[in-house]
Amino acid sequence: MTVDTLAQAATAAAGGTTAAAADATATDATATAAAAGSARRFPAGFRWGAATAAYQIEGAAAEDGRTPSIWDTFSRRPGAVRNGDTGDIAADHYHRYRDDVALMSELGLGAYRFSLSWPRVRPGGRGPANETGLDFYDRLVDELLAAGIDPVATLYHWDLPQELEDEGGWTDRETAYRFAEYASIAARRLGDRVATWTTLNEPWCSAFLGYGNGVHAPGRTDHAAALTAHHHLLLAHGLGTAALRAELPAAAQVSLTLNLAAVRPLSTDPADLEAARRIDGLANRIFLDPVFHGRYPEDVLADTADVTDWSFVRDGDLAEISRPIDSLGINYYTPTVVAAEDTSGTDTGGPRGDGHQGGSPWPADRGIRFLPAPGTRTAMGWPVDADGLYELLTRLRDDLPGVPLLVTENGAAYEDYTDPSGAVHDPERVDYLHGHLAAVHRAITDGAPVRGYFLWSLLDNYEWAYGYSKRFGIIHVDFASQRRTLKDSAHWYARVIRDGQLPG
Ligand code: FCB
Repeated sequence: MTVDTLAQAATAAAGGTTAAAADATATDATATAAAAGSARRFPAGFRWGAATAAYQIEGAAAEDGRTPSIWDTFSRRPGAVRNGDTGDIAADHYHRYRDDVALMSELGLGAYRFSLSWPRVRPGGRGPANETGLDFYDRLVDELLAAGIDPVATLYHWDLPQELEDEGGWTDRETAYRFAEYASIAARRLGDRVATWTTLNEPWCSAFLGYGNGVHAPGRTDHAAALTAHHHLLLAHGLGTAALRAELPAAAQVSLTLNLAAVRPLSTDPADLEAARRIDGLANRIFLDPVFHGRYPEDVLADTADVTDWSFVRDGDLAEISRPIDSLGINYYTPTVVAAEDTSGTDTGGPRGDGHQGGSPWPADRGIRFLPAPGTRTAMGWPVDADGLYELLTRLRDDLPGVPLLVTENGAAYEDYTDPSGAVHDPERVDYLHGHLAAVHRAITDGAPVRGYFLWSLLDNYEWAYGYSKRFGIIHVDFASQRRTLKDSAHWYARVIRDGQLPG
């Protein structure tokens, strides 16, 4: 991102992208699309999906040979997770996957993004594969294929085997090699039927929330450890990509999912622009440069020089990390507005740009304030701002020419409940999804190569440190009875999928 584009982002953060202006742009896009005879119609072949993750839905934590992950341990740490909730049972998907696939089928999903539990596939993180654990994914994949739903598998959605954490976790380089072995095991068993693979989900969260401010497992609070973990996660991505390619048919797709930040400086004050440059470095370029260009950004190395000397980067690592991939997954929820400490603007005491309270996850963010974007908020307190998704997708169109993009997560938590008639009315979620899908459509109209959209989430589930208190699903789960109820948003999404376009 250049200083110019940061300045444009500042206009948006300062409210320059007013609702009216945003509407006008949206109207332009609609007009163009309508002129082409397809109002808010998505391209043929667009992949309509929904996403989940193993620890958040599976349950069966101690069944069929699965051993604890860092989340099993962390969730038991007093005060770490709201209500002391754990993923022991979660949405019991391990036992109810057939019914869940039937619901996906009812929605008309074309694709389903799920993750494999590393300690279910390879208990303890080393040694032989657990064939019984793999059998579960075998059955799930077969069930999906029988329903005409394309399985999209993520290898690591945050559930590191506890034994590997005991040996240093992601601060230990060896963990990257264990990950590659696990990738081979999974691809060998499922690669004949799973055509799209993602190595890591949101390594920013694994490194900076897991090792930086400790609001996620394993709950360590050491910024040098977070940067070390960051590098080893990227190394795992590179080694894992090679391992997958060695096992998979040539046509298989390998991807990586990042929660890149739509960073906006509060104003065009040079100090605010400087704050945005730093956070853009630590949230975005710290991933995009090594993965797509085989180098770490010089300014990020300089900004973090007080925290670490980066001596954990060894010769050859960046070549490994920058192995070509077939697409990039983007998870987007809300933009990140930053300012310098001493410029104008009201500090509302909002979260530090990561959606959680607690210390700072960012190494080297001294003098930087994080402010909420204006507008309504979800039950997470995250401002609703679909323009941020458009900004990210069009930025990637420009920065990574030729790299196909997938929105691998997008959605919102609200205070949902089943009413006496048994329905779940969630109009705010429908609005959120409509606005964000309109942003995706606008980005596609403007040339962003977005190939699919995976709504987060299929089911209400275990929302990490928030436990079961936050509901992101389009399917309501009563955790006591495990009863599933399609929310209004599920019916709405089914219609969008069926029509291949947004209503209205
Ligand atoms: C993302 C995670 C996903 C879910 C959503 C709300 O950061 O990848 O598991 O928790 O946020």
